[in-house]
This record gives sequence, structure tokens and C-alpha cells, in this order.
Amino acid sequence: MLLENFESSYVLGMEEMDNTHREFVTLLNQLDTASKSDFIPLFAQLLEHTQAHFDTETEWMQTCNFPAIREHIGEHKRVLGELQRFNSRVAKGNITMGRAYVQNQLPSWFESHAQTMDSALAANMKAHKGQA
Ligand SMILES: [Fe+2]
Ligand SMILES: [Fe+2]
Repeated sequence: MLLENFESSYVLGMEEMDNTHREFVTLLNQLDTASKSDFIPLFAQLLEHTQAHFDTETEWMQTCNFPAIREHIGEHKRVLGELQRFNSRVAKGNITMGRAYVQNQLPSWFESHAQTMDSALAANMKAHKGQA
């Protein structure tokens, strides 16, 4: 397992965001042990899931006037660019670098992103809801 203890480490108290993050972690953990033939479609699924995940967060940031919106969107774009580049290699059957990316980079990225930028967004959304 690349990421464990989701419920105690990454739940931010916004149900839809938590569900999306839980799915992301599940996909990462599946990719960790996937065979080559399973890795290729799963990686494409991770890319698609992450695109939707980030698009939804952008809408939330706009709705609650999130102060660090530019930094947060910029970070999403950077990661999405990496995922797209690795996906084009993986789709051609070259999974070695994609597997290394999944195992060595994405878990620590998710851990820090969830606990900093997404945590700040969740707190902002809660405050915004409280004002509504
Ligand atoms: Fe997120
Ligand atoms: Fe985010």
C-alpha cells in the first residue's frame, strides 16, 4: 500500500472532497500492485479522475473566493501536466517511468497537497458555508 490510514490522516471534513480523495488514494494503491495490462487503463483512469477532481476544486475555490486560488490552480496544472506526459508513455506500453512516478512521487505529493492546499480550501469552504 502506498498510502494507508486515509480515515485518520486525510479526511478534511468536506464529504465530496473526502470521497474524491479516497478514490484517488484507492487508485494509487491499485496502481502500485497492478500488472502491466491493468496498469495502462488504470493510469488513464487516474488522469481522468484527477482532471475532474481538480476542475471541481476550481469551482469550489471560485465559489468561496479562496485567497490562494492562483497558487492552488497552478499546482494542479503542474501535476496534471506530469500525469499527461506519463500517460502518453504508459499508453504506448512504456510503464516503467509511470510506475516509478506513482510509487515515488504521487504519494508524497498527495500527502502534502491534502494537508496544506486542500486543507486550507476545506477550511475556507466551511467558513463560507457558515456565512451563508
Ligand atoms: Fe484535492
Ligand atoms: Fe487541490
